Amino acid sequence: MTSKNKPKYEPKSILITGGAGFIASNVLRYFWKQYPNTHFHVLDALTYAGDMKNIDDAIHSSDRFTFWYGDIRNERLVDKIISQSEIVLHLAAETHVTRSIYDDINFFETDVIGTQVIANAVLRHKKTVKRFIHISTSEVYGTAMTEDMDESHPLQPQSPYAAAKTGADRLVYSYYHTHKIPAVIVRPFNAFGPNQHLEKLIPRFITSVLLKEPMTIHGDGSSSRDFVHVIDIARALDMIIQASAKDVEGEVFNVGTNKVTSVLEIAQLIEKLMLDNGKQKMEFSEYTLNVDDRPGQVNKHLCNYNKIKKCLGWEPTITLEGGMKDIIDWYVNNRDWWESKVWMRQVPIVTETGKVEFH
Ligand SMILES: NC(=O)c1ccc[n+]([C@@H]2O[C@H](COP(=O)([O-])OP(=O)(O)OC[C@H]3O[C@@H](n4cnc5c(N)ncnc54)[C@H](O)[C@@H]3O)[C@@H](O)[C@H]2O)c1
Repeated sequence: MTSKNKPKYEPKSILITGGAGFIASNVLRYFWKQYPNTHFHVLDALTYAGDMKNIDDAIHSSDRFTFWYGDIRNERLVDKIISQSEIVLHLAAETHVTRSIYDDINFFETDVIGTQVIANAVLRHKKTVKRFIHISTSEVYGTAMTEDMDESHPLQPQSPYAAAKTGADRLVYSYYHTHKIPAVIVRPFNAFGPNQHLEKLIPRFITSVLLKEPMTIHGDGSSSRDFVHVIDIARALDMIIQASAKDVEGEVFNVGTNKVTSVLEIAQLIEKLMLDNGKQKMEFSEYTLNVDDRPGQVNKHLCNYNKIKKCLGWEPTITLEGGMKDIIDWYVNNRDWWESKVWMRQVPIVTETGKVEFH
C-alpha cells in the first residue's frame, strides 16, 4: 500500500503546548479540520505573548477541546496532560530575540527547563505517546557558513533566545538517543501568518503603516531571512505525524522555502501593498527610520529543505508575496486584537555603540 492510499491515522488526542501563541494557534486551527474526531489539549501559561483570542470560539467551546491554563515547568500538571495525549506538539517558549537580550532568565527556564519537563513526561508515558514533535528554530544555526543551511550546519546560536532553543533542541536529541523517546525535531525558519505578536518584524511594519508611523529598520536593512507560512509549517507537522517511526524518529527537519528576503525588501513589499494606491503613495524614506543593528543579529538565513522533501514529500506552497496580502487584511480587520499590544512593539536595548535604542 502506498502512502497515498494508506488510510490517514487519526490520533485519539493531541497536546499542543503554547497553543494560545502565534504558530501553535494556527497549527491548532489547521489540525482541528484535519482531525475531526481527535481530542485537543492546549497547555499555555498565557504570558504576554499568549492570547485566548487566538483560539476560535468554536474550538474553545467544543467538548473535544480542553484548555489547561498552566506552565510547562509544572511537572505534575504536564504529567497529567501527557498521560492523556497520543501526540505531543511542543511549541511553548519565550520567543522574542530582542527581549532575550535584556531579560534572558525566562528564556532558559521556559525553553530549556520547560522542555526537560515535557521530555521527562514523554519518557514516563513512552508506551502511550506515539510521537513527540519538538519545535526548534533555524536560529540555532547562527549566521550561515554555507549559502543555504541544511540540518548538518554547525549550531552557533548568537542570541540568548537562540542559545536557549539550542539547549532544548540538543536536550530532546539526547533523550532520543538515551531513552529512545519517539522524538522528532523540527527547525522552522522565520514564520509568517496571521495572529503574530506585534514585537515581530512583519506585524510591526504592517501596524506601523496602519498607525501612520515610520517602519523602523535595523542597520541598513540588508539582514535577510527565509520566510515560511504557518500553514506550511502545520502541513509539515501533519506529515511527520503520519510518517512511519523509522523515517522520522530521532531526525531533525528544516522547514523553510530556500528563498531569502531582506528586511528592506519586506518593508518595500508592505509599502507597495499598503501605500501604492494612487492617493496615498509616499516616498519610501518617509516611512522608514534606521536604527543600529540589533546586537547578536544574524545576517542571513536560507533554508535547505531537501531532507524533508525527500523523506516526506513536503514543499512550501505559500510565498511571502502571495501570503502577505491576506496577512495585511487580517491586521486591518482585527484592530481590537492588536491595539492593546502596541506599547509592546519595541524593547529597549543597549547597542554595540553604548546607545539605548528601542528595537
Ligand atoms: N515565530 C517564528 O518565526 C518561529 C520560527 C521558528 C521556530 N519558532 C518556535 O516556534 C514556537 C512558537 O513560536 P511563536 O512565535 O508562535 O511563539 P509565541 O511567542 O507567539 O507564543 C508562545 C506561546 O507559549 C506560551 N508560553 C510561554 N511560556 C510558557 C510557559 N512557561 N508555559 C506554558 N506556556 C508558555 C505563551 O503564552 C504563548 O502562547 C516556539 O518554540 C519558537 O521558538 C518560532
